[in-house]
Amino acid sequence: MKTWGSHFFGLLFGKVPPEVQPVLARSVVEYKRYCQDLIEDRKRNPREDLTSYLVHAEATGDALTMHELVSLLSASLLAAAQETTTAQLGISLKLLLEQPERWQQLLKDRSLVPKAVEECSRLESVSHYMIRTAVEDVQVGGVLLPKGSRLILLYTSANHDETQVEHPERFDLHRDNPPNLTWGRGLHFCIGAQLARLELRVGIEQLLERIPDMRLVPGQDVGYQYDLPLLRNIRRLHVEWPVR
Ligand code: HEM
Repeated sequence: MKTWGSHFFGLLFGKVPPEVQPVLARSVVEYKRYCQDLIEDRKRNPREDLTSYLVHAEATGDALTMHELVSLLSASLLAAAQETTTAQLGISLKLLLEQPERWQQLLKDRSLVPKAVEECSRLESVSHYMIRTAVEDVQVGGVLLPKGSRLILLYTSANHDETQVEHPERFDLHRDNPPNLTWGRGLHFCIGAQLARLELRVGIEQLLERIPDMRLVPGQDVGYQYDLPLLRNIRRLHVEWPVR
């Protein structure tokens, strides 16, 4: 899944040399075939899972076509779910390890991990904005936005709004439910927000448990994989720990 996800995003957003592009394209086709097989299987053998629900969903007599199902599974779920969450785990780990006292705090008190998930995603989110179109004239903050205006909603800017969060640049594991727009807001609020939070929590807990004395390799440049504010993913994160 991770490889398919990286190839999918690499092809869409990466600066991939022309000779590598067919390799990534083949991988994307492979993933789409996997989705197709999964859909065919769930048509015959429905289970308690999302693919089965989508396959058997019906609205006003219409079911989703194979093309729509593959598109939903591949683009929305692989791209929206997998690439974002793994990227957020990498960024969160970087934030936790670059100031070792943050990691120490979590080692001492594991009940702070959910707060760490919130604080890391608030401070540095993988996805900076979403685009909207005004469907009618609308007034926002005293500015008239005419119907049809294209807007960039900077969720990460809102996460750093000093009128909403005290000392927003400060990493603080004792905040009481600070606003966090990392997963959006309103009608298109991320359907996977709770799952992503759970995955991040379990990921961090497992690392605390298994490699408590992990630290960042000094002097490294993590780099960003996609040079885009729509999805920021660190390229690499080198860590080290003493051999016991
Ligand atoms: C750290 C991980 C994640 C981040 C940062 C993230 C972020 C977002 C954001 C910002 C939006 C758009 C909200 C808007 O337009 O206002 C969104 C929508 C969406 N997300 Fe996530 N997401 C994550 C994980 C997931 C997961 C795990 C899933 C699925 C299991 C998922 C599925 C979706 C889908 C299908 C939408 C579109 C919802 C709609 O348009 O109604 N995301 N996500």
